[in-house]
Amino acid sequence: MKIDRAVIVAAGRGTRFLPVTRSIPKEMLPLVNKPLIQYAVEEVVESGIGRVVIVTAPGKQSLAGYFSPSPELESFLKEKGKVELLGEVQRLGRLADIRYVIQEEPLGLGHAVLTACDAVGGEPFALLLPDDIIDSRVPVLGQMMDVFDRYQTNIMAVERISQEETGKYGIINPREVSHHLYQVLGLVEKPEPREAASRLGVVGRYILMPAVFDAIAATSPGTGGEVQLTDALGLLLAKQDIYALEFEGVRYDTGTPQGWLEAQLSFALKNPELGRALRQYMERLLQI
Ligand code: UTP
Repeated sequence: MKIDRAVIVAAGRGTRFLPVTRSIPKEMLPLVNKPLIQYAVEEVVESGIGRVVIVTAPGKQSLAGYFSPSPELESFLKEKGKVELLGEVQRLGRLADIRYVIQEEPLGLGHAVLTACDAVGGEPFALLLPDDIIDSRVPVLGQMMDVFDRYQTNIMAVERISQEETGKYGIINPREVSHHLYQVLGLVEKPEPREAASRLGVVGRYILMPAVFDAIAATSPGTGGEVQLTDALGLLLAKQDIYALEFEGVRYDTGTPQGWLEAQLSFALKNPELGRALRQYMERLLQI
């Protein structure tokens, strides 16, 4: 089995980013000069996957508009001789074969994934949460696909977190298989630190077998009336193996202002055009 399609979920309310998310979808917030969703699509493409399903919500039209061709802008840039920008804009329209499905109400991550069931069509698929931005040498999805090639079953990405943070993550009960690779024996959403089976927290990258859709359909709504993916994966575990990869890379939770700002600074400092001047400005600002 090969992975040839990816689902990117982008239908949430983004309440932690209010008030800006009243009119700008969280996934369209910029990281330097590209919206978050573009990093997710690029990670998919760089991992060798050409078909993308974006789960979006009513009122988030700017998401779909962003990847569609823009003949007017293109002829403007052509006229002005802005060749590089023209190339960048044209590349966006050709990046991947992107389809959109609408989640009418934000009933949870599990529900959002279920909305993509028909578009995925009975094949294993990759799932990305675009507010988890991961800076890595090899795209994290690519790292996970290598594991999938070996095990041909569900794979999730995990990160070692501090003991105090277990209440913010899905936490796995791991059995180490090899360096940074674990078989998942159990899965608990947001346990108290003293009840957590490990410090390995689940982050927003998965490779899932189509059986996950039945598991989601059989999952009752949990906290806040939302259908949680973690609960569905707990059910799936009774039928199929799940492996967890402690990936190589640095993750930013750009779904919160703090995480978004940290990502902004790290990406900008590494940017060849902005980095030097920004560092000097920050040194002045902090009087280092
Ligand atoms: P989050 O819980 O981080 O996003 O979901 P949110 O619900 O938009 O944010 P807050 O909690 O209100 O601040 C992770 C990802 O899952 C998507 C979100 O768009 C985000 O990319 N999601 C979440 C959906 O697509 N549908 C949902 O019902 C819930």
